[in-house]
Amino acid sequence: MAQDYVWFQGIPFPVLDICPEHIKAVQEELVLKDEDIITVTYPKSGTHCLIEVLSLIHTKGDPNWIRSVPTYVRSQWIETETGYKFKVERKEGPPLLSSHLPIQLFPKSFFTSKAKVIYVIRNPNDVLASGYYFWHFTNLAKKRESLEQFFEWFLQGHVPYGSWFDQVQGWMSMREKENLLILSYEQMKKDTRSVVERICGFLGKALEQGELDLVLENSSFQAMKENKMSNLSDVPEELVPAGFKITRKGITGDWKNHYTPAQTQAFEETFREKMAALPLELCSWD
Ligand code: A3P
Repeated sequence: MAQDYVWFQGIPFPVLDICPEHIKAVQEELVLKDEDIITVTYPKSGTHCLIEVLSLIHTKGDPNWIRSVPTYVRSQWIETETGYKFKVERKEGPPLLSSHLPIQLFPKSFFTSKAKVIYVIRNPNDVLASGYYFWHFTNLAKKRESLEQFFEWFLQGHVPYGSWFDQVQGWMSMREKENLLILSYEQMKKDTRSVVERICGFLGKALEQGELDLVLENSSFQAMKENKMSNLSDVPEELVPAGFKITRKGITGDWKNHYTPAQTQAFEETFREKMAALPLELCSWD
């Protein structure tokens, strides 16, 4: 069953547990508390990996929680009706939440609270390559017929959560905010230990060396691939067919195995045009 989209303010959303009235309520009425920690990303940027790290920081490296509770329950998506209800009703427990919302639709309460957002940015070419598989092999959004088609959709923003360019610019424009930490997927891969230390510093959490080692070990690509609770293997088959795992390749630069030279050039041109307002070093993937 391939799904089309729910549209809200010109942005396509997956039909799963999301409706326009609800997104509006999230923006206007959802109250974020100072202790909340929200993972925010454009889909396919390393969301699940960051949630795994945050879950493990919360348990000081103990893997019991990540091995018994699925990612999407540990850190619920606020734009879904289930996640919103969970957030409103939660009286105690780990303060982790997630979202793929663009800044203009994010809860207004964030801007007057001390809630912490960690935003992960990834090379959009790899986001595209990852989404090319994810949205096709799961039943959460409209299915593409070819890479050419998905490539066009991505450049136009006709993919779940809309334009990568708009979303990243929106969040980047808030980069001076004290309670926003911007990380890149590429940094996380290259020097995971330093990034986890940065996250701990941002959250004001101190880990012993042994605890930090456990966070790294249990959030590795291989560990997540083997953990049913962390790679969507437990999701009902009508949404995520058996055998599909979110841990596909987990590498940087996979887009090079997909693009033609003409696509490489077209992407570069679009990127330069759409991201012209941002300092270049903010969008460096090395
Ligand atoms: P690929 O499809 O390129 O392999 P998201 O969680 O935002 O949907 O992102 C999914 C991407 O993150 C996938 O990329 C997946 O393999 C990668 N990923 C998941 N866990 C990871 C980990 N521990 N280390 C590196 N990459 C990871």
